[in-house]
Amino acid sequence: MDVFLDRRLPDYFRSHSWQSIQHDPVAASAAFADFLGQRFGVIHGFSLAELDRDFLSDLNFPQTWDFKKLQVDSLLGHGASGAKKALLNDGFHGDKAAYNHFVTQVQLLRRMCLQILSAILPIKPTQVRLVTRFSETRMENLHYDQDAESDNHEAFRLYINLDRSPRIWATSYQMTELVQLGGRRLVSDIDERSPGEMILKRVMSRAFGGWNQRATERLAPRHMVYVDPGDVFFVDGRCVSHQVMTGHRVLSLYARIPHGSPRLAPTFATKLRQALMVAKQVPPGGETAIVNYFEPRQVTAAPQLREEWGSVFGETQTGRIRRFDDSGAVENRMGTAE
Ligand SMILES: [Fe+2]
Repeated sequence: MDVFLDRRLPDYFRSHSWQSIQHDPVAASAAFADFLGQRFGVIHGFSLAELDRDFLSDLNFPQTWDFKKLQVDSLLGHGASGAKKALLNDGFHGDKAAYNHFVTQVQLLRRMCLQILSAILPIKPTQVRLVTRFSETRMENLHYDQDAESDNHEAFRLYINLDRSPRIWATSYQMTELVQLGGRRLVSDIDERSPGEMILKRVMSRAFGGWNQRATERLAPRHMVYVDPGDVFFVDGRCVSHQVMTGHRVLSLYARIPHGSPRLAPTFATKLRQALMVAKQVPPGGETAIVNYFEPRQVTAAPQLREEWGSVFGETQTGRIRRFDDSGAVENRMGTAE
């Protein structure tokens, strides 16, 4: 992994050796402490040799929301399902052998991920969700991940780059840093009793804009991260702001960790509320986070990302220039993006 640092941000990238994590509880705790501490952890030395990397790195699934977030756990159970049928027909054009090979790969990936989780997490997750992406992602907006009920659990996210090419991310402010440095200009009239994900959404859209505000006028400083093929990394996506610049094939995993163990402190909920208290002491004009401070009316996200995902993030290689500004694709006089 190569990280091109922006010195206006802390360097929150940390390396971990799989050998150490596996055999030394202190190393495993250090990895988990990086997760809780809003850092970006990379695990070196985890073998992917069992996987058929050539097969995986040739896959191309349709550029639709469902394929972008393909929940592959559902493929592992017995019996027919709509998801299996859609994957066989639309992902593999009816090629059963390729489909079955893919399912085998997913089984292997799941086993590998569970091995990593059991080494790092201090308590067992109540839910583990595997998602694969074998479709292109290009220039997401800078964001924090939002999870329903984020105040009552932690969300451990693990990724494996399954591509031949680097996956390029940009990362920016850690959540508590953004909130504290943004001060009242960012958090005024936010009620700390609101659900954490709602607070995070308000802070994020004021700081970075909505999902379609992906043009280049964003002020936030950003580290540029080149995730190598085969790199394994984990991060609390609620706490480290990020955007995919480009990437094609990846495995991502969400593990829901229930509260109740002292080893989970400080939780996302605590970090967020404590940062809000600090922010409320910073008067307008005293803020130092370098972000856009959008007024709500300036946040222009359209409501139908799910339906529009194919055209917004797909339809690349058009043979023409597509231009985007903060309202999304720019239309020319003929009414089409050019
Ligand atoms: Fe994300």
